[in-house]
Parts: sequence; structure tokens; C-alpha cells
Amino acid sequence: MGIAQKESWGTRVGLILAMAGNAVGLGNFLRFPVQAVNNGGGAFIIPYLVCFLLMGIPLLWIEWSMGRFGGKRGNHSTPYILDTMHRSNFWKYFGVFGIFTNIGVAAYYCYIESWTMSYVFHSVAGTFRGLTQGEVADFFVKYVDIGSSTTGIPFEAVVFYILCLALNTFILSRGLKGVERAAKVGMPLLILFGVFLAVRGLTLGTSGASAEVPGASAWDGLNFLWTPQFSSLSDPRVWFAAAGQIFFTLSVGMGTIHCYAAYVRSKDDIALNAVSAGFMNEFVEVVLGSSIVIPIAAGYLGLDWVKENAGFGMAFQTMPFLFEKWGPLLATFAGVMWFGLLFFAGITSSLAMGTPWMGFMRDEFGWSRNKGALSFGLFVLVLGLPTVLFFQQGVFDEYDYWAGTVSLVVFAMAEVILFSWIFGMDKGWREINDGADLRVPRIYRFIIRYITPVMLILVFLGSLLTPEGNNWSAAFASLFSGEGWPLDNGSIVRQIANTGLHERIAQATEAADIKALKDRLFYTNLARTLLTLSFLFIAVLVYLSGVRRLKAQSKPA
Ligand code: PHE
Repeated sequence: MGIAQKESWGTRVGLILAMAGNAVGLGNFLRFPVQAVNNGGGAFIIPYLVCFLLMGIPLLWIEWSMGRFGGKRGNHSTPYILDTMHRSNFWKYFGVFGIFTNIGVAAYYCYIESWTMSYVFHSVAGTFRGLTQGEVADFFVKYVDIGSSTTGIPFEAVVFYILCLALNTFILSRGLKGVERAAKVGMPLLILFGVFLAVRGLTLGTSGASAEVPGASAWDGLNFLWTPQFSSLSDPRVWFAAAGQIFFTLSVGMGTIHCYAAYVRSKDDIALNAVSAGFMNEFVEVVLGSSIVIPIAAGYLGLDWVKENAGFGMAFQTMPFLFEKWGPLLATFAGVMWFGLLFFAGITSSLAMGTPWMGFMRDEFGWSRNKGALSFGLFVLVLGLPTVLFFQQGVFDEYDYWAGTVSLVVFAMAEVILFSWIFGMDKGWREINDGADLRVPRIYRFIIRYITPVMLILVFLGSLLTPEGNNWSAAFASLFSGEGWPLDNGSIVRQIANTGLHERIAQATEAADIKALKDRLFYTNLARTLLTLSFLFIAVLVYLSGVRRLKAQSKPA
């Protein structure tokens, strides 16, 4: 039961690159710029950095040390890692999150990853040559609309999705060696491509201005992002967005880091490794992530356009069009680099999402790597196909919300309480510092014990009970005047009840609108049902593993 297998990382460089590859993902290039722009550019940066220092870094240390602690005892996934820290059914079953979240996120994450594969292909094939901005944008719309696929390949979105999962499965079946190799190839290329595009973005200056957008300048994009604005410090919405971005980009609160760290040799350092991987992620996110899409788009289309159109689509709907302005050769290269960079960022993260499931099945049921990888691929396929087929009906968003946002906060809050208050800070601090190649500043002992848990509890409560318009003072005034707490439709409580959708259905007058909204409600519930069933399925496996462990114990060795 987990004792016989002594798999571990090959080299320290391999470990750090794999961990950095885990963290550096689509979040760095697609999510970060959008979050930054939508939360006021420079207004976002300070809360973001504060969240990194007070929640991100502490969580990295906590998760790395929890992982190594469990790994020493033969446990490579959170149900039994948490259980070794505090023996109880509650923590064992709570650990289901650490497998579930990975599969839930992989389901939609691999879909985006498959777009990047397909877009590399189309960049090489010159699909975007000579198209107008509208046509390039339309290409994407057709791509995700399974019914009207006119991109040339029938059911292209499904085909690339399956290809992408197959590739992940294949690499995972090679075990940690495969992951390490992917990171050693992918990370340097990603940085190379990123630096090239960033230099292009930074040197664009005002050369992209045209008759339609006379004042366009790439510098406007950068200035917008990098002029700190202190006024936002009192806006809770910006803080929640910053915290959410930190969780997602560092891959904390998911069980992924625990699993990777469980394969660190028991005497090896984690303090410095965790910080190195974390800072590498921040470099890629803050420096490269903000120097590509935003300045290039601002340089050609103007800052106002960026502010209005900041979204996921920018990367796929606009960048290929803008690259074409660089001439056919450079456009092809830029397309390959941009989507190739996204692909490497994506795959080194989705591989990480596969390992907790594989580790668990291996520890508890003796599954081989091949069996583990294949079953992961199939699990993700079943859970993920609805995001592909019903992308426009909101299945994707629903997964992103529950698996990619809410679960992280819940898990992170619970694990920090487990680590600093139940496992205990004395033991915890010893775990972090054991074998450390870095002297962890003592102030972090205090931060991990008090600041991080309090911040996480606040983030959790704030998301659970977000007041209307995120206006906290108005909400408290209303509460004290006896009128109750006005909930926002974005609060978790109202999301569960689908209040916003129900309101829109009630207000809609056109039959077609009502039907579309009702469809959305149906698919939202379908997505939730699938996620819930997945969670329960993993919980049943945890139960069965407990039965097996008991049997093994009662058998004489
Ligand atoms: N951190 C990754 C990103 O920024 C996402 C991720 C989530 C990776 C879950 C691993 C596990 O895109």
C-alpha cells in the first residue's frame, strides 16, 4: 500500500521546472491580463502582490511541506496526505477535493489547450492570411460552435480535444520522467517565445497607429497596467479578483502541488524550491504575461478597445489578425510562437492535474502508470466532452466557477487551518524548514499562523456572501437597520440557487430569449450534476481504499 513504489523526481532542476510548469499556465497569459484590465490595470497590481506575499507564498510552503510529509509515508494524494497529518474521516474525505478539482479543471482546461494546438496548426497553414479582424474573430466563433464547423476539419473542436487528451495521457503514462521531460523542453521554449513576443510588444511603440486608430500606442497598455492606483485598495472586488488570480496561477488549493511534492525525496529542500518555482511563475505572469497581449492590442487598436474587449477572446480572436500586420513570414512565426507558448504553458499544467489521480490509484489500488494515465484520460473525456459540445450553453463557465474558483478557496482555507492550527505551527514550521536551503524569514511563522488563515476565511466568507454590487458599507448599513443582508447574484449562495438566471428568465419577454436562458439553466444544472457525481465517485473510491487498508492491516505481513 504505497510502500513499494519509490518513484521520485530525477533532478532538482527537473523538479523545479516541473513545478514551475505546473504553475505557469494559461492563467498567466490568458487570465492575468484580463483580470488586470478588468480590475483597473494599475489598481490591480498592489492587491495582487500583497496576495502573493501573504497568501501565495505561505500556501506554497504549506502545500510543499504537506506533500513531502505525506510522500514520506507513501501517500501521494490529498485524501491520505491530510489523513496522515490528522487522522480522521473528515480530513480523509475532505481530501477528495484534491483529486476532484484537478479533474474538474482539466476537463475545461484541456479544451483551451486543444485550441492552442489547433491554432498552431492554422498559423502554419496560413488560415488567417488576408482575413479581416471580423473574419478572424468569426473563425473562433465557428470553431467552438460544433454544429456550424466550417473551419475545414469536420468536428474540429472535438478532434483536437481528443488529440490533446491523448497526448496528455501518453506523456503521463511515462510517469514523472515524462512530466520532467515535457517541462525541460516546454519551459525554456515558452520563455524564449515569450521574450520574443514581449520584445515585439514593448518595441511596437506608436508604430501600429493607423488612420482608424490614430493615437494607438503600445505604451498606453503598459502604463495602464503599471501605474499603481491606491484608490482601489479599499475596493473588495479588486481584492477578491486578485486573490482568485493568485490561487489559480500558483495552482494552490488544488492538491496538485501536494502530489508533486510527495515525490520529493524526504531529505530534500522544499523551502527554496517552493520559492523558486513561485517566483518563476510570477516572472512569467507579471513580466511576460503583461507584455504581450495588452501592449500589442493597445498598440494597434488603442487602449479603449482593450478595455472594452478585455477577455478570453483577445488571444484567439484578435492576436492572429494583428500578427498578420507583420508580413507573412513573421506572422507565421509569431502565430506559432504565441500559440506554441500557450500550448507549452497549458500542457505542463494539465499534466500536473493528472498526477493526483494517478498517485491515488497507484497507492491504493496498485494501478500501473498506463492504467492510471488511461483512466485519467477517459475520466477527463467523459467530464470534458460536455464543455466542448455545449460550450456556448455555459458548461465551460460552470466548471470554471465551481472547480476552478470556489473549490480552490474552500480547500485552501481548510488546509491552512489544518496545517497551522490542527497539525500545529510548531510541527508545521519544522516541516517547512527541514532540509531547507533557505532561511525562511521568521515573520512567516506569524503570517502562516494568523494572517493567511484570516485572509482566507475573509475571502471565503466574502465570496459566499458577497453583498449587492460588492458594496460592503451599504450592506452593513442595511443589516443594522434591520433590512437584512442584500446578496449579490455573484455570491456563492445566489449562484447555487441560480438566482441571476431565474431573474433574467422572469424579465425576458422574447420567446427566443426565454428559450436560450432556459437552455442555459438546463446545461448549468447538467454541469453541476456531472461535477457532483465525479466528486461522489472519488469519495466512493476513497471509502473503498479505506476498506482495503483495513484488510491489509488485519492480514499478518
Ligand atoms: N496554474 C495553472 C495556470 O496558471 C493552472 C493550474 C490549475 C495548474 C490546476 C495545475 C492545476 O494556468
